[in-house]
Amino acid sequence: MAPRRMAIIGCGAIASRIVDAVASGLLSYRVTGLLDLKPERCRRLAERLPEPPRIAGSLEELLSTRPEIVVEAASPEAVGEYGERVLRAGASLVVLSVSALLDEQLLSRLARAAGETGSRIYVPTGAVAGLDAVRAHRLAGIERLVLRTVKPPEALGLSREQLNGGRRLLYRGPAREAARRYPLNLNVAAALALAAGREPTVEVYADPNATRNIHVVLVESPAGRLEIRVENVPSPENPRTSLLAALSVVELLRRLSQRDPLEVGS
Ligand SMILES: NC(=O)c1ccc[n+]([C@@H]2O[C@H](COP(=O)([O-])OP(=O)(O)OC[C@H]3O[C@@H](n4cnc5c(N)ncnc54)[C@H](O)[C@@H]3O)[C@@H](O)[C@H]2O)c1
Repeated sequence: MAPRRMAIIGCGAIASRIVDAVASGLLSYRVTGLLDLKPERCRRLAERLPEPPRIAGSLEELLSTRPEIVVEAASPEAVGEYGERVLRAGASLVVLSVSALLDEQLLSRLARAAGETGSRIYVPTGAVAGLDAVRAHRLAGIERLVLRTVKPPEALGLSREQLNGGRRLLYRGPAREAARRYPLNLNVAAALALAAGREPTVEVYADPNATRNIHVVLVESPAGRLEIRVENVPSPENPRTSLLAALSVVELLRRLSQRDPLEVGS
């Protein structure tokens, strides 16, 4: 089977993992084009690929390389700026900056464009897990949805002395307000909201014993109780991005390019 054609918008930490997976043969894709506000970042990634991609100066140039899939690994602004045109060109779109999809008008524009061209919008599980089970609980009617984020105090602008050795709840409330007050990954809350059909209540804890960024998701519905806990290691290229988030896109792309006889949990 010929490798599938993929283009990438945003040549940072996540793109770097995708490019390495293509270069090592783990992903059977040809990267046809790269686009970044900083073209030198594209050049650095292009050097790692077996077949040189087009370093595009615009979305039109990127789309002229005829990708079947475009991965947005850039910023929420990039989803608004390019998403609809990607889908209208008939390419599917993988969205990493999921927080952009909290904008309902943008989401419905993208969904309409995808519906009209038959292309798809994919949201990888990213820095969290178990979105399939959240979707299943949604069918029963979710009564409680909480995202509890636990971080080392330094990651929340506190010193260890300020906590007196104990864990402290800093915030409980809507995700957007939590993200405005603290350096949080709103993408996790947004992916949960899309899977659950409602926004989670976010709790932010500073814990002097935490060495990783921890997300706990709690779901309650008539089908039972679900508790998901992920402890994330930062990616070496960007400490704000979990390595798991980058790997989850690689895994999604791998699944999209293959017909595994056995499909687990998708
Ligand atoms: N879904 C998740 O769970 C999850 C987890 C981690 C990161 N993310 C998101 O994924 C995105 C990429 O993460 P990363 O760690 O690779 O970021 P990064 O900062 O390492 O790289 C992003 C790159 O995109 C480029 N860029 C930004 N806006 C652009 C635009 N409008 N047009 C073209 N290029 C643009 C930047 O110049 C940069 O090179 C971010 O928005 C991040 O918040 C999502």
